[in-house]
Amino acid sequence: TRAEMEGEKAAVIVAAEELVQKVMGAWDSSHDPFHALRVRDLALSLASEEGLRLSSFPVVELAALLHDIDDHKYAARGEKVGNVVESFLKEHNVESNTAEAVLKIVTTMGFKEELGASGNVPISPEFAVVQDADRLDAIGAIGIARAFTFGGSRNRKMHDPAEAPRTSLTKSEYAKGVAQPTTINHFAEKLLKLKDLMKSQAGKKRAQQRHEFMLSFLQQFKEEWEGKC
Ligand code: ADP
Ligand code: NI
Repeated sequence: TRAEMEGEKAAVIVAAEELVQKVMGAWDSSHDPFHALRVRDLALSLASEEGLRLSSFPVVELAALLHDIDDHKYAARGEKVGNVVESFLKEHNVESNTAEAVLKIVTTMGFKEELGASGNVPISPEFAVVQDADRLDAIGAIGIARAFTFGGSRNRKMHDPAEAPRTSLTKSEYAKGVAQPTTINHFAEKLLKLKDLMKSQAGKKRAQQRHEFMLSFLQQFKEEWEGKC
């Protein structure tokens, strides 16, 4: 379009940024608008590094910006969620192939969705970079900050030495009181697994350093907790 040729943002991208501000502006800062903006920048940068076609970039950018909009964790009790992104794409007359690709990404990219999926699900290069970007933002220094912010927003304990580390727990196990969700345990349960779930080469490369940073953080945390340093 003319707007793109002149280096202006497409109207639909501006509208998506506004939706992000409106919806995520009310959420705790583990999932505030800056998360969506960081994931957009990371996803576009991974997409260039992976050599994706130019026509893929609008899909990557929209999916990255909108990926958490329909997150039920932040829905008010009883509120129906799940179709804000779909309505947005319709309302802005996003071309049907692009809209379908965006929806496919945002509805299937979650950690739980992946663990619940059976067998090999074919993934597109656009899906790979958006999911990797979201996961990169969940690890490293920012990942650590986000985890404690989320835990704090739910009044969770940082750590409880009486809780044995658990690497996989379902909601119902937590509900039954098998264990308390502590933020330190979230590392074993999820954050330390993400590096091996990266889909793109570019994502794998960037995950490495962030992963190592988390390991050294956890080591230091433990030593301080035990009064050893
Ligand atoms: P996904 O959409 O991939 O399932 P989430 O939105 O559940 O990911 O989580 C994104 C980030 O929010 C996590 O990486 C973490 O920083 C924070 N978070 C989510 N659940 C928890 C938790 N139980 N404890 C601490 N942090 C959490
Ligand atoms: Ni996210």
